[in-house]
Amino acid sequence: MQKILIRGGRTLRGEVPISGAKNAVLPIQCATLLADGPCRIDNVPRLQDVLTTARLLEGLGAKVEHAGSTMTVDAAHLDSHVAPYELVKTMRASVLVLGPLLAKYHDAEVSLPGGCAIGSRPVDLHLKGLQALGAEITVDHGFIRARCDGRLKGARHVFELVSVGATENVLMAATLAEGRTILENAAMEPEIADLADCLNAMGARISGAGTPRIVVEGVPRLSGCTHRVIADRIETGTFLVAAAMTGGRVTTTGARPHTLDAVLGKLREAGAEIAVEKDHITLDMHGRRPQAVNITTAPHPAFPTDMQAQFMALDCVAEGVGIINETIFENRFMHVNELLRLGADIRVDGHTAVVRGVERLQGAPVMATDLRASASLILAGLAADGDTVIDRVYHLDRGYENIEAKLGALGADIRRID
Ligand code: UD1
Repeated sequence: MQKILIRGGRTLRGEVPISGAKNAVLPIQCATLLADGPCRIDNVPRLQDVLTTARLLEGLGAKVEHAGSTMTVDAAHLDSHVAPYELVKTMRASVLVLGPLLAKYHDAEVSLPGGCAIGSRPVDLHLKGLQALGAEITVDHGFIRARCDGRLKGARHVFELVSVGATENVLMAATLAEGRTILENAAMEPEIADLADCLNAMGARISGAGTPRIVVEGVPRLSGCTHRVIADRIETGTFLVAAAMTGGRVTTTGARPHTLDAVLGKLREAGAEIAVEKDHITLDMHGRRPQAVNITTAPHPAFPTDMQAQFMALDCVAEGVGIINETIFENRFMHVNELLRLGADIRVDGHTAVVRGVERLQGAPVMATDLRASASLILAGLAADGDTVIDRVYHLDRGYENIEAKLGALGADIRRID
């Protein structure tokens, strides 16, 4: 199994291009199931999850072509409406085919995603939203079966909790429903606005995406489209934290600064000088050690849970004590035990971690447990003295494109070993 070896202690400097957003491209790939013609998606990152979704679409009968960073999906004719366990179990986002299949074919079967390393992550909010549009849903033998007689019916639905995936699933389904759908307490993540832009390019009539109230006027059919995926704000944030932890100066290019307000605010609080210019963000730490920051994760536009582990790594080497509150996922502190192996001082009590910064971390062998946990171990390894070997890096390949090459170009000593 592949590992990553990092020789820590290098200061990162330079420019790094940001890839397309994983959390935008996955729902957009699923949305292509709604279209009657080919959809061309640009700025697609080469990530394991993107390839898994492509396999899922092919399994349903869609034609997928992937050349460079462009993916074309023609899902006009499908021969199956069943998303099998083998694929869904490896990637929870597969459940996002449910809304599109149901809306277009009035019948869909998707395996229940089941447990996941960062918490139980149920899909009840997805199902309630689809039921509000008239779907009949049963869960049998580990499969969700959703059906409707003719088109779904537009309705007003209030999500009882803010959920990114549920908002996306119900939004996609509503595009082909009869009449108007109003989604209240919708998630406001930039990836939802990007999905809506793509759906609108197919001929959907959506307004308000990116706000808590989304209005959809249903249309009878959607056509093929061309769409460019937005930049990955979590990848951007991860590189900026790497610069902050190593006292360096890094510019991310192609990023979207306004999608990172909470993260940039915390980096400034940690003592970083940040300059923003169109799609460039430059972080300069001027060789200083970061100050500890307190973090509470919450739905967008508050601080993203997907940056929690990286900021914990930052607090590990910062001056002072940082308190980290995880409010989105239970069990999202699995990186703590690995960070302790690198010499960090962290105490966890329920959903709260208290991190006391240490002068230096020490390299050690560690194991990645999930995607963002792996990122935090890479960051800690970059700032540590000596060698850090990270095992189970396949987690990293689900969400970061060419991370070793990109960090290497910034001056990190990092490579993959077998
Ligand atoms: C998406 C992101 C993930 C990010 C998360 C929160 C993708 C592909 N993934 O995941 O990277 O960490 O948003 O920003 O975009 N919940 C329920 N019932 C449901 C659905 C969710 O109780 O039916 C709960 C979850 O357990 C969690 C919370 O709601 O506690 C938020 O989860 P949600 O926003 O749905 O996350 P995902 O869409 O799975």
